[in-house]
Amino acid sequence: MAIHRVWVYASAVLLTIICSIFADQTVDPKVGVLFLHVLDRGYYQEGFRSFQETYGIITNTPITFSTNLDDHPDRPRWLRFTQRTAYHDGMLYGTPTAEDIGQRIIEVTAYNRKTFETTSQNIIINVEQPMEFKFLYQVEFFVKNRDVEEVLPLEVQKHFMDRVERIWESSHFSIINITSALDRGGRVPLPIEGRKEGVYINVGSSTPFPSCLEEEARPDELCTDQLEPISCEDIFSPHFIINWCNITL
Ligand SMILES: *[C@@H]1O[C@H](CO)[C@@H](O)[C@H](O)[C@H]1NC(C)=O
Repeated sequence: MAIHRVWVYASAVLLTIICSIFADQTVDPKVGVLFLHVLDRGYYQEGFRSFQETYGIITNTPITFSTNLDDHPDRPRWLRFTQRTAYHDGMLYGTPTAEDIGQRIIEVTAYNRKTFETTSQNIIINVEQPMEFKFLYQVEFFVKNRDVEEVLPLEVQKHFMDRVERIWESSHFSIINITSALDRGGRVPLPIEGRKEGVYINVGSSTPFPSCLEEEARPDELCTDQLEPISCEDIFSPHFIINWCNITL
């Protein structure tokens, strides 16, 4: 029995040595603010021996990931993972709450779907209390023409924020949550006409709501499923098609 244990331990150590060629990485998500960490396929594929042997040859390796707490089969409750296909980067994202403050270690394993090689890396997640102001005013937009993977990249988040800034006339705000409509009971669209799943984007600010948003969210607001909002100038369209009947403050 004891010998068996030693062997299990030794092979675990050996596996770790073979796989963990990447240094640990530390990230610092803030309570109440959307966190995003991209799992870059180009980065992880450098750990595959088959890639190293064919260095210089451009390859497009299909890669999938598993992401879990180091002592657990799951991720922390607040941390979600998405990867559209094995030819897209993976994205860890979500919004920690005050209960999540502290350090957790996420084990990322990248699988080469062609050669069955794996590489792995530990991501040390330090959830911190933000220093900044509190987001007392929060609004939820439903964006009909996007999938969650399309709005998570930071440059797209920034495009969205630029437009919110023009409505709000304040720069004291932040994206606090992004959720696929599928996670909120939405249905997978038919693969026709480029229909998208839709995504909810929550924005918080320390500055009171602009009057145009307040009017748009009033329950007695006459609302048909038209494209034009009634009160706000629609500076989101055509990039982001907002459902103006579904604004929640
Ligand atoms: C973010 O959205 C998800 C999905 O709707 C929800 O489960 C989670 O509680 C939200 N997080 C925060 C901090 O609002």
